[in-house]
Amino acid sequence: MSATVVSDAHATAAPTSDATRSEWWRTAVIYQIYPRSFADASGDGIGDLAGITARLDSLAALGVDAIWLSPFYTSPQKDAGYDVADFTDVDPLFGTIEDFDAMTARAHELGLRVIVDIVPNHTSDAHAWFQAARASAPGSLERDRYVFRDGRGAGGDEPPNNWQSIFGGPAWTRLTEPDGTPGQWYLHLFDTSQPDLNWANDEVLVEFDRVLRFWLDRGVDGFRVDVAHGLIKAEGLPDFIAEDDGDSMGGGAGPIPPWWAQDGVHAIWRRWRRVVDAYPGERILAAEAWVSPLSLMARWVRPDEMHQAFNFSYLSTDWHAADLRAVIDESIAEFGAVGAPSTWVLSNHDVVRHASRMALSAENPQGHGIGPRSAGLPDPVVGLQRGRAATLLMLALPGSAYIYQGEELGLPEAIHIPDEARQDPTWHRTEGERYGRDGCRVPLPWEADAPAHGFSPTGHTWLPQPEEWARFARDAQEGVATSTLTMYSEALRLRRGHGLAAAELTWLETPEGVLGLRVGDITVLANVDGADFPLPSGEVIVASAPVTDSIPADTCVWMVL
Ligand code: NOJ
Repeated sequence: MSATVVSDAHATAAPTSDATRSEWWRTAVIYQIYPRSFADASGDGIGDLAGITARLDSLAALGVDAIWLSPFYTSPQKDAGYDVADFTDVDPLFGTIEDFDAMTARAHELGLRVIVDIVPNHTSDAHAWFQAARASAPGSLERDRYVFRDGRGAGGDEPPNNWQSIFGGPAWTRLTEPDGTPGQWYLHLFDTSQPDLNWANDEVLVEFDRVLRFWLDRGVDGFRVDVAHGLIKAEGLPDFIAEDDGDSMGGGAGPIPPWWAQDGVHAIWRRWRRVVDAYPGERILAAEAWVSPLSLMARWVRPDEMHQAFNFSYLSTDWHAADLRAVIDESIAEFGAVGAPSTWVLSNHDVVRHASRMALSAENPQGHGIGPRSAGLPDPVVGLQRGRAATLLMLALPGSAYIYQGEELGLPEAIHIPDEARQDPTWHRTEGERYGRDGCRVPLPWEADAPAHGFSPTGHTWLPQPEEWARFARDAQEGVATSTLTMYSEALRLRRGHGLAAAELTWLETPEGVLGLRVGDITVLANVDGADFPLPSGEVIVASAPVTDSIPADTCVWMVL
């Protein structure tokens, strides 16, 4: 490359120490499977474990290192399985425990590690513990496993405090006592069917040790820990008005609410770390902790706590070069300061898919989902162009990356889901004011011409698939040089081959709007929002869009110079 176009500027901190470089999770690409929407073998329109097993070959072919499964446990499915009634069994919707074992065995055979979700902040109201709590008296041992309080005001008619649920509406629900009188209130940060557990109760701690060991004994390689910033609430449960900052899970800027990021959670993660470390094979804990800034999130991955935390600051950063550079530097520095790798993530089952989100306008940030009546709907062409560029930038960064099922197909958010088909509790609890997350959870298209695009043999799908999704189907993209699927698999192959995930990142001097990075022996040029940038001489090894003499905005290329 000519020195007048791009020159070395400065190096960021090295991400890891030599002693720990061999640990697989520092560099892994982890693919999120949302079981209800991945593949349906039974034909009931809801994905299942047998469906996953049958399709694992395509993930091995894609080149990922591990899969993470969202919950498949016994559940009334009020929050798509994040309302767990039995943490150590499989819901019949998804199959049986034998199906789980078969899925794990097949994944391991293919060289894929298996991470499962664990949901410790709350149970389902159908959990045996909550049923017992309902039937027991105020002050009983059974009630102490949850957060029960007397109401305020005359007759205890008012909730114990003013907290609001993440899904909208009050965070408290009043019970009718077994004798028919209005009774105590219980806390639920999420849906009414998801009562929060009391982590000050030893029985809760002991029970979750058992749950962890149950799955570790079955061979799982780790846990994605749901709401890892919750669990402990501030002493006295003080009133608090949260700022509506647009993050779907309630994290973000502004003062930290008394239900998030309390110091007491860290003792729990140290305990869990001891449990997983007692097993051979480097089993891991990954925190879903929607907290910012990154210096705070880094506390979850101190050496004796979790291994990884989802980098939601990166996910939440707009498609602006300067902001992206700042968050990349901050991530490497803050996670590096505690000896942890950064993670990188752009999509998951809670946010608008990044092939749409990247093209949302300022008047409609992604916060609580998008639907037909949202202002400033994304242009799909711009969205996909940016989404592909964003992916290519992400996959070059040192550390571990997460891919959410369907992003390798370039799937956009499904916007035109009929109101009556929507299922997210957010939609129902806000009476349609917030669309919620259904749009990123629509079942995957596998085969362009099959019923339900190959998702289900009967053609049933629990959420409707947009008709135009035939063109996103996996079989329509396989072997097509310009397809998003080909871009992902090429990038993953090159990421591995060039050792990018363990390499050092150096910034190059580039014009405004363009990011230039040297990672190991490759050069990454991402024209985010700059003027056309002349293509340096050298070999383009993968590109998010065709490039000839120059790299236009919304385009990223990897080069060997
Ligand atoms: C975070 C999960 O990702 C989300 O889907 C779920 O609704 C909440 N936690 C509650 O468990």
